[in-house]
Amino acid sequence: MGGAVCPGELPLNARYTPRSDEVDLPVPEREMKAPLRLLALSGSLRQRSYNTAALEALAVLVPARVEVEVFRGLGELPLFNPDLEGQHVPAFERLRAAVGRADGLMIASPEYAHGITGVLKNALDWLVSGEEFIHQPVMLINTSPRATHALAALREVVTTMSGVVVEEARVAIPLLGSGLDRDGILADPAITAALREGIVHFTEAILCLQSE
Ligand SMILES: Cc1cc2nc3c(=O)[nH]c(=O)nc-3n(C[C@H](O)[C@H](O)[C@H](O)COP(=O)(O)O)c2cc1C
Repeated sequence: MGGAVCPGELPLNARYTPRSDEVDLPVPEREMKAPLRLLALSGSLRQRSYNTAALEALAVLVPARVEVEVFRGLGELPLFNPDLEGQHVPAFERLRAAVGRADGLMIASPEYAHGITGVLKNALDWLVSGEEFIHQPVMLINTSPRATHALAALREVVTTMSGVVVEEARVAIPLLGSGLDRDGILADPAITAALREGIVHFTEAILCLQSE
């Protein structure tokens, strides 16, 4: 995919730095020859998870020609064991296929004891040895701004796995204790503005990376 507006050189694993006048621009649909497919991974299995709700809200807020799949199967993955690699593990095959067809990943994880959740780490461990994750642009969503350890840990894991963290697409929204579900998030102008801005930066970065 060529012709995207890119802010100069953008080596993989480098920071994406938008021009200041790009911030409020809509996603350049003219640059998209096919819909962008984004995969959303939540590190929480909780029924009323803020992280899952934020991803579900993002799926509503994305512009036309951007599709979001909120992946539901992380809780079905067995605990990762290298001995299982190469064996028929349906839950992993679904995850691997979803990552493989994605143009970018959106990841939101709670902080558990200053780390990311076991659910998310387990899923990422399953993906380490494959090719699907490599060079994937990644948007990080933090629903609890105090949870700095998990964010740092997630950035380290993603980068180690050769994912490309798009720093300017990172969104921090104070959902902890808010009681908001997806619809509550969508009704909050400040939170939706933050999510929309993150999506604009993320899609711009994906187009730039794909044009290289
Ligand atoms: C086992 C456990 C450990 C937690 N550890 C931390 C922590 O270290 N730091 C923190 O800020 N919050 C911590 N929390 C709070 C969660 O991050 C918070 O409840 C978050 O909203 C859960 O995300 P969810 O709503 O998507 O399930 C912990 C919660 C649990 C259940």
